Amino acid sequence: MRSNYFKMFTLFIIILLCIYPLSTITEIRTFSHIEEKDYGIETPPRVAEIKSYDNIVIIRIVRNDTSKSNSIEHCNYDTLFLRIINSDGTVIEKDIKLEGVQIFNFCSMKMGKDEAEDHLKYEIIGKDKLFVFYYNSTDDINVEGWGMTIDFDGKVIDKIPIGIWGYKGYRRLYRLRVPRIQISFNINKEKGFIIGYRPLQSYDFEWKQYKIELDGKFTILINGKIQLDSRAIVGYDSLIPTVNESYSFIYKLNNTFSNSLKDLIVAELIGYNKSDTAKVFLYRGNLLNRIPQPISCNIEYVGVGHSCSLPIKYNESNFNLKIGFLSSGATIAINITPITFPNNQIGFRSWKLQSLLFGGYMLTERAKIGMEHRLYTYIFAENGILGLEQPLLTNLNYAYAILPNNSILVAQQEYNNTWGFNMIKLPKFTNDNGYFNTNIESTYPEINSTIYPDIKNITINFYYPVILSDGRLSIFQIIDQRKFLRQSTSGIECILNNDDKKVIVNILNSTFSKSGGNFYIKIDNNFVKSRIYGESLLGIRENVWNFIIEDNKYSYTITSSTAVLLRLTVEGSNIFKNSSYDEKNQFFNSLLDELADAVQISRDRLSKNDKDQIDPKSNDGKLLININIEKTKDPYEKDVNSVIQDINYMMSNNDQTPIGKGKLIYLDSTYGFIPAPNYLQEYGPKLSGLIIILVLLVILYILANKREKKGHNIVIFQFSLFISDFVIDTLFIINNAKDVKMLYIPSLIFYTIPIGLNMASSFLIIAKENTRNEFLSWFTENNRLASIFTILAGIDIELLSVLHSNLAGFKYFQAPFSDSAKSIIFWVAFTNIFVEDIPQFIIQILFRMKSITFDIIPIITLISSAITLTINIISRSHQSINYIRDKRRTRRVFHS
Ligand SMILES: *[C@@H]1O[C@H](CO)[C@@H](O)[C@H](O)[C@H]1NC(C)=O
Ligand SMILES: *[C@@H]1O[C@H](CO)[C@@H](O)[C@H](O)[C@H]1NC(C)=O
Ligand SMILES: *[C@@H]1O[C@H](CO)[C@@H](O)[C@H](O)[C@H]1NC(C)=O
Ligand SMILES: *[C@@H]1O[C@H](CO)[C@@H](O)[C@H](O)[C@H]1NC(C)=O
Ligand SMILES: *[C@@H]1O[C@H](CO)[C@@H](O)[C@H](O)[C@H]1NC(C)=O
Ligand SMILES: *[C@@H]1O[C@H](CO)[C@@H](O)[C@H](O)[C@H]1NC(C)=O
Ligand SMILES: *[C@@H]1O[C@H](CO)[C@@H](O)[C@H](O)[C@H]1NC(C)=O
Ligand SMILES: *[C@@H]1O[C@H](CO)[C@@H](O)[C@H](O)[C@H]1NC(C)=O
Ligand SMILES: *[C@@H]1O[C@H](CO)[C@@H](O)[C@H](O)[C@H]1NC(C)=O
Repeated sequence: MRSNYFKMFTLFIIILLCIYPLSTITEIRTFSHIEEKDYGIETPPRVAEIKSYDNIVIIRIVRNDTSKSNSIEHCNYDTLFLRIINSDGTVIEKDIKLEGVQIFNFCSMKMGKDEAEDHLKYEIIGKDKLFVFYYNSTDDINVEGWGMTIDFDGKVIDKIPIGIWGYKGYRRLYRLRVPRIQISFNINKEKGFIIGYRPLQSYDFEWKQYKIELDGKFTILINGKIQLDSRAIVGYDSLIPTVNESYSFIYKLNNTFSNSLKDLIVAELIGYNKSDTAKVFLYRGNLLNRIPQPISCNIEYVGVGHSCSLPIKYNESNFNLKIGFLSSGATIAINITPITFPNNQIGFRSWKLQSLLFGGYMLTERAKIGMEHRLYTYIFAENGILGLEQPLLTNLNYAYAILPNNSILVAQQEYNNTWGFNMIKLPKFTNDNGYFNTNIESTYPEINSTIYPDIKNITINFYYPVILSDGRLSIFQIIDQRKFLRQSTSGIECILNNDDKKVIVNILNSTFSKSGGNFYIKIDNNFVKSRIYGESLLGIRENVWNFIIEDNKYSYTITSSTAVLLRLTVEGSNIFKNSSYDEKNQFFNSLLDELADAVQISRDRLSKNDKDQIDPKSNDGKLLININIEKTKDPYEKDVNSVIQDINYMMSNNDQTPIGKGKLIYLDSTYGFIPAPNYLQEYGPKLSGLIIILVLLVILYILANKREKKGHNIVIFQFSLFISDFVIDTLFIINNAKDVKMLYIPSLIFYTIPIGLNMASSFLIIAKENTRNEFLSWFTENNRLASIFTILAGIDIELLSVLHSNLAGFKYFQAPFSDSAKSIIFWVAFTNIFVEDIPQFIIQILFRMKSITFDIIPIITLISSAITLTINIISRSHQSINYIRDKRRTRRVFHS
């Protein structure tokens, strides 16, 4: 796998050793990355920052741009060099040119420091997405903070001015005077981040909240200002996310009452996307030593809520003041523990206490000794007892990071074109039973266990009583390294048991429908809360535990391929209507991709039929689509019936199943997934009625023939055909014509015009014939029958002919029509072919092509149209031939 984009490098595991007797056995693993490009001896690669995301580690390396750096100013190369280290040890190099980001962002004033730091800030926000903060200048003086989202190839997805202002230095080319900013992502990264700073000309603290949508676009949420004065001491880590998916800003007020020397620790609770903040006092007391100690705040991984801590020096001893508090602002614990450092020297100005995943906390202290850069690392148990003390050699930037697997990475001094780091396992102060969460006692299924697919529920046992909340528990299946969401259930849909310590999650029967394979559970931050504190008990973790479902080798009976109807929601239908041809194809392709994944069959078994139409039964224009499901010969893959059943089941539980996610939200679950009806099965019984009628007609015909052979008895059939054609056409107009919009008006026109024409002709003929005595006397004698047929002739003028058909020799049917009347009947009937039969037939064919409803009426209408047209054409031609022959004969007789 060696391509331009994916270069793989070898990482060496060099040593595995035990250090320091203080801690339990701690292992150090060293990774070195060889083969960085050579930028010259003065410009070695240097690890500037280490971050982790999911199970990858991302390292930013910087390189001294010697053409711009000197003893006062420092500039890095204006490229964001990222090195992505996968869990299998492979490294992907991304050298990202940040489009339009000016050089001063890569520079800083040295101020006697060695660090090659600059103004650029970034955060990993997705598997292939970064957020970058930078300054932008459009004149000689001002710079403004901007944010951009890019992919790992540097393609800009979105950018936005954030409005944090600063200046460029007068004399120094690359010097910026800008406020110190803090960017904190929400504990639920999908909810975005908050950015806070004290503007250059003010003591106030301003903050702005943003959200980054899944497609990488920014959404501005809200901003606010907290008024402060000169007494406020604001630390580096004073703006933190809270466990209820909001934020909190914590600062110290020095000497609020000058006579009694009282100090205050204040928290401002900043709600997510809310403008008003709530101020709470976390601590009120005399902090004795008045140095501007920074407060360091954290989320507590063990226990609940958050904590802030600050160092106190008293009688030459060091103490840690630790305050635990909830998202609501309630203080739940205040502890003062002595902390001892072996050399009793901790630089309070760099005080940054980090809570560890398994209890305890870590402090680091930078030191330069000769040419060596050291990171003194102290790990304390909750009670302040030193658990590990370790001077770690590191690089110029003192780059290190705590990983979610409870180890730290420390960058090593770079040499030649190689960088590397040490990975040190940290001691655990509590037992997590393997769940990376110290609140969970046990689960069913157990970690790494193998169970049968008929499992009905999943249970989690907590140490403490909980209440259910609206976060979700999600079950993923891993197939060929792809993860598929199978079920996602909100906390409030679960059941509590065992004094509220046991949470029971019902398993849907579609969840494990493809058995055999690896599954894992993801739990959202606020799935459950502590019953005592009302605070979330679970940090967001992608993978809380794994288990395996036994492959039960269920085999299906093969069923045949089937066409199925789906309906889109109003939203989906609108998207579809406003799409181009290509977009429509793309829309349906991804819809079917997701559907195949949701029901776990191979994608090539689903295909879309070309037809789609507005569902006549929905009055808000929802679109019906028709898809085919191919049968499979593999007895272990779901058969067509099971596919239909499972999709319907998932639709009826769409709040918990993949049907409610992605593009599948555009499927109308209330409609379901309905097999296209089978005409014969559905309408067979009704059609048998027709056959009985036909038999009756034949009997009548035979009887008529028996009575009078010379009668034009065939009119029995003609009569029935015309009447039923008319009834069917009428039903079609009422029920179906609207289904295909563009055919509605034409069908109405070609329904009414012939009626008008025939009706008018019929009345005219009868009126005219009645002027003849011979006809009038027949008419008076049979006036009821004659009137009925005059009106029926509105359906088709030929029905008048029935009156002189001599049917079965009855005298009712011996009307003495004149030749001219017969001739008019012929011509009107002839015209009917063009104004009725042919247009209606065409409309019916178009209707079939454009529609997918499986109603019987359109089908019968089409058949009936076809028969009427054929019969009319045949009989007209037949009559024409007779007519011409008669004419000739008459002429010949006349001539001779
Ligand atoms: C970067 O290069 C400049 C010029 O060669 C040098 O003065 C400076 O010390 C270098 N900085 C670092 C951090 O190596
Ligand atoms: C800098 O600001 C200008 C003016 O607002 C804007 O057009 C430009 O895109 C910005 N550049 C970057 C890289 O954000
Ligand atoms: C933020 O609040 C505004 C106004 O209250 C609201 O319109 C918007 O939908 C909210 N955004 C999010 C992501 O909650
Ligand atoms: C805190 O107050 C003390 C006493 O008033 C003063 O000496 C000190 O400078 C103040 N510190 C800060 C950072 O304001
Ligand atoms: C978190 O708690 C604070 C204080 O009770 C509240 O203002 C805020 O709305 C909560 N945030 C969320 C997302 O519920
Ligand atoms: C760096 O490379 C030079 C020349 O190839 C070599 O002499 C030196 O030992 C290398 N440095 C280290 C620390 O390996
Ligand atoms: C579960 O399996 C994984 C991978 O095989 C392993 O790393 C982990 O230690 C196991 N966990 C438990 C609690 O057995
Ligand atoms: C959970 O499933 C087990 C067996 O799978 C069953 O015995 C138990 O009653 C179920 N509990 C609930 C609350 O459904
Ligand atoms: C799933 O459960 C529903 C009702 O609980 C049942 O009707 C359906 O047949 C089940 N499906 C399967 C595949 O077991």
